[in-house]
Amino acid sequence: MIEKEVKEKLRAVVGAEHCLEATHECFGYSYDSSFIPMSPQNIPTLVLRPGSTEDVAKIMTIANEYDIPVTPRGTASGRTGGSIPAAQGISLAMDRLTNILELDERNMMVTVEPGVRTIDVYNACAEKGLFFPPDPASWKYSTLGGNVGENAGGMRAVKYGVTSNYVMGLEVVLADGSVINTGGKAIKNVTGYNLTQLFTGSEGTLGVITKILLRLIPMPKKRNTLQLMFPSLDNACNTIHSMLSSGVVPAAAELMDKISIQAVAKHRHLDIKAEIGACVVLEIDGETDADLDKQACQIKAIAQKHEVLEVRVAASQEEVDDIWSIRRGLSSAIGAAAPNRFGEDISVPRDAFPEVVRLIRQIGEKYNLTIAVYGHAGDGNVHPSVLCDLAKEGEEERVHQAINEIFDAALSVGGTLSGEHGIGLTKRPYLKKALGEAGVNTLKLVKQALDPKGILNPGKIWE
Ligand code: LAC
Ligand code: ZN
Repeated sequence: MIEKEVKEKLRAVVGAEHCLEATHECFGYSYDSSFIPMSPQNIPTLVLRPGSTEDVAKIMTIANEYDIPVTPRGTASGRTGGSIPAAQGISLAMDRLTNILELDERNMMVTVEPGVRTIDVYNACAEKGLFFPPDPASWKYSTLGGNVGENAGGMRAVKYGVTSNYVMGLEVVLADGSVINTGGKAIKNVTGYNLTQLFTGSEGTLGVITKILLRLIPMPKKRNTLQLMFPSLDNACNTIHSMLSSGVVPAAAELMDKISIQAVAKHRHLDIKAEIGACVVLEIDGETDADLDKQACQIKAIAQKHEVLEVRVAASQEEVDDIWSIRRGLSSAIGAAAPNRFGEDISVPRDAFPEVVRLIRQIGEKYNLTIAVYGHAGDGNVHPSVLCDLAKEGEEERVHQAINEIFDAALSVGGTLSGEHGIGLTKRPYLKKALGEAGVNTLKLVKQALDPKGILNPGKIWE
């Protein structure tokens, strides 16, 4: 509930054309790309589309005064419900803040607004020979505000790390409407606590990010893609492991198991040989064609030791785009393979990848569930997808038990609940398992200090 007078004040901040109130319009802001069913409980009371930091500051001042929940939202590509307004109130849509404010070539940094799409930042930097590496699967529509809020990862994390490795500074509107700037262009900076990293990955619960300063690196001059087919997942994992330990570090090393490959084949009407049990997709980069040839030869030699069945080195940009569009569309292809699907995002030490996959297989057998496994094998981030039919008697309960055990498996090998999707709504029940009571209480103390009324994205991260 927001009182009529308060709604008037909020509407006046952004202007009537940027304030939505009709239920059918607000409905579109009640869900995201997670597997959370749509619910009237999540329809915001108001959608506000601020046009500036000042607008955000005014909105937060009013929200704080009247105890109104505020949930920031980009393009809702998130997988754990981060942008779902679970306590209703205001959905703060950042889709008007889409500018690249400054591309500072000399310092190799770019300042952007939160609503700019990841791919647009990548392209603008690439034009100047600069490289912003983080590339979540959704980068064609995900936005930087969400990427920072969730500390998004992606394919190139193997060689280049994740979003937080590039965030140099932030402008943040706090819960009470005050505006702070963290970090800056100075590469070395130990002036006070590292608030930049605290807000990065805070899932919209500590402040609203209104500007982002990102570090860039020189764009590699050459790049290519390889696709390798193996008889088994172990062969594939061992190849990746041998490659990395022998110093051949691809930008990306993605893996798909047999179930994932078959889902893609069905979705795309492709013929896949029956003996193929795993597929690895690699991106390699370097300065010259000779660099790439050398890496491709080293990779082939390593893969041959692990019984590789097919090696395809992309011969054209179309082929590269084709291979990556299959990989980026994998989640949808797997989703189409069953009436329901729960996609997870565990992250384990790199060498524990085969072990955790084995444990996931056992869990699938124990609960008689099909679990597709794919993910960023090069950095240990696995996306197990439980394929199921919730209409079947007892299926939902079994799925939840299986997911619980998948998290146990991740923790048992020294891993964690999420590599790149965050905790949001979906993983709240498991947080204590990963962090312990004292760990969760420490998060709560931080939250209490920055948002004492609990108005920023309530209901997320812990229960
Ligand atoms: C992917 C998303 C789901 O890697 O993170 O496809
Ligand atoms: Zn992923």
